[in-house]
Amino acid sequence: MIDIHSHLIPAIDDGSQSMEQSLAVLRVFAAAGVEGVVLTPHVTATELATDGDGAVRRRGAAYDPLRRIGLAAPKLYLGFEIMLDQPLSAVSMAHRRFSLAGSRYCLVEFSLSVVPDFARNVLADIARAGAVPVVAHPERYQGCSPETVRSWREVGAKMQLDSTTLTKATARGHRARQLLANGLADLIAADNHGNQRILTTGMEYLKSRVAGNSVELLSSVNPRAIIDDQEMVPVPPIVLREGMLDRWRRFVTG
Ligand SMILES: [Fe+2]
Repeated sequence: MIDIHSHLIPAIDDGSQSMEQSLAVLRVFAAAGVEGVVLTPHVTATELATDGDGAVRRRGAAYDPLRRIGLAAPKLYLGFEIMLDQPLSAVSMAHRRFSLAGSRYCLVEFSLSVVPDFARNVLADIARAGAVPVVAHPERYQGCSPETVRSWREVGAKMQLDSTTLTKATARGHRARQLLANGLADLIAADNHGNQRILTTGMEYLKSRVAGNSVELLSSVNPRAIIDDQEMVPVPPIVLREGMLDRWRRFVTG
């Protein structure tokens, strides 16, 4: 398993606040079989446009004590989670400085009130500049219908579902499962903030409900394609069989 989205550089954003907290999470990850983790502190497109060097420098300085520990597992990689408060300029993306593990892929998010057409245009710009935008947790956006996400994918974006949200009897969980059912999800990640969120939550949920190798595509093959800078493999539609408890939860929560 490879987790391409985490906030485990100590005290750089709203994720882990100390080395001890980060190491505790990374030990749990290693024990669960997570082989690689991309550390993706929050940054905005505006910050990258105005002081990209500073963002890279601050990330490097905050990461250095963790790097020097030299963990055997999981292997650590660097990236950013970029809030697209403005379009990412082609210049920002040159040399892949802000991408995931130096690959063609960059992890992006929008504000919760994003307008789907604005998002589509911004994602298309990134793709035109030669990068592949990976949209973090698209299920967070209310307007994230299968039609909207299809239009985002048409311009070259990939979709990363949140592993924990996938299991929840909430509107976000429902949207995540809808994307899976329509073959619109490419991978899952934990988005750990120094807490208990882990890839295996979503994997176990899926494994108990679907057959075939789809879970491996979502949690291993496609995340590995990112760190290896390779093409992702299409994930076939995954229609989840609902148990009695799921049906009851859906009924209760509307
Ligand atoms: Fe995140």
